[in-house]
Amino acid sequence: MPLFDGLGSGGEKTAIVIDLGAAYTKCGFAGETGPRFIIPSEIRKPGQQQAIKVVQYNINTEELYVILKEFIHILYFRHLLVNPRDRRVVIIESILCPSHFRETLTKVFFKQFEVPSVLFAPSHLMAIMTLGINSALVMDCGHTETLVLPVYECTPILPAWEALPLGGKAIHKELDGLLVEQCTVDTDTTTGQSVPAVIGNYTKSSHTLRLCLFNGALMKLYIRVLFVVWFPAVRTCFVSDLQRGLKIQEAKFNLDGTAERPAPPPDVDYPLDGEKILHVKGSIRDSVMEILFEQDNEEKSVASLILDALVKCPIDTRKVLSENLVVIGGTAMLPGFLHRLLAEIRLLVEKPKYSDVLASKSFRIHAPPAKPNCTAWLGGAVFGALQDILGSRSVSRDYYNQTGRIPDWCCLSSPPPESLYEAGKTPPPLMKRAFSTEK
Ligand SMILES: Nc1ncnc2c1ncn2[C@@H]1O[C@H](COP(=O)(O)OP(=O)(O)OP(=O)(O)O)[C@@H](O)[C@H]1O
Ligand SMILES: [Mg+2]
Repeated sequence: MPLFDGLGSGGEKTAIVIDLGAAYTKCGFAGETGPRFIIPSEIRKPGQQQAIKVVQYNINTEELYVILKEFIHILYFRHLLVNPRDRRVVIIESILCPSHFRETLTKVFFKQFEVPSVLFAPSHLMAIMTLGINSALVMDCGHTETLVLPVYECTPILPAWEALPLGGKAIHKELDGLLVEQCTVDTDTTTGQSVPAVIGNYTKSSHTLRLCLFNGALMKLYIRVLFVVWFPAVRTCFVSDLQRGLKIQEAKFNLDGTAERPAPPPDVDYPLDGEKILHVKGSIRDSVMEILFEQDNEEKSVASLILDALVKCPIDTRKVLSENLVVIGGTAMLPGFLHRLLAEIRLLVEKPKYSDVLASKSFRIHAPPAKPNCTAWLGGAVFGALQDILGSRSVSRDYYNQTGRIPDWCCLSSPPPESLYEAGKTPPPLMKRAFSTEK
């Protein structure tokens, strides 16, 4: 239960805030300073070894409904421990979330859990709520993709969004290959074992354990085991500075071998548990993150997304946006990421492609009052705590039951559903009002 819930004057209970990410779900209560739980966005079925991802866009609606129902049930009854009927729900969503996913999610909340209302809030917009500013160029570097969206005077400039499929998932994939190729594991009995051999043993032994004892605690342990090898390896890696990064890229792509790679950092021995030691090569530690900054065939990288988005913005908004960069998402927590990002932007902006059109060369990154992976959640918690505004901006269960639809947050022809339904008044115009904290 949220703090001080019992001390309230009998008013509305605090809303639930859920950021359903591709890798991790952050959930907790509005008005609090951080999510209560950060859990993998996946469910497990008894007897199945593979976890089922909750954020899947390419499966049919019935299947998705069942998965989401099970996952939301876990959120309410294993973690939050509150009655779904008592509290409004704020869902932090990506602007790229397909309609069928958000519609299915809404159906689960209204039909299965009978929540009083649901509000979908775009993650980029919520992130700037934590800073008390109205305009920013927000970059979300999460698990599946990096998505840049400018927000000017609380209004997202939709035509200027830019995205690349670069994030934690791409890094994990790259790292998987390198670990399997180059790294070894020492155990109590043997040294220099290959990584796949050890993962095989891990999986097998924990599977047997699960079948023998089969209780909740062991299930959790089993889930952790599959993460345990890859996640520590990411933790030993870092983002190199610009000069070093450029040299590493030059050596990687220079096939005749004339470009010399800078000396790698020391190898790291990372204890996986009491008995196993993973040897992570120094050359992997400083180079694996380069995939984020290498320019592809279209000269796009994580840094160029920011400049490309700026170029698409109206000319009089660019200076404000470039001086108010906000970077969120778990991948931005990598050591050295922000420093490298800024250095890359300052290097790229001198190229004729950008220098001819962008007059402002001043770039500054904000430091939000939360860890990057929780910034959007915190913005949702701030917004969810404004109970008057939350009520008028949410879609109520009655409205949903009558119409069977959830209006798009950016659909200008959609009036605020609850105020229309309840009061029959003329709705306030457009989105700016929708997400402005002014009354
Ligand atoms: N401390 C950390 N250092 C480095 N990477 C991290 C850290 N914490 C999380 N990550 C990486 O960040 C990713 C998760 O970030 P985040 O929670 O923002 O993603 P998500 O919201 O689940 O995904 P998406 O926004 O794409 O839907 C994972 O790939 C994880 O490996
Ligand atoms: Mg996210």
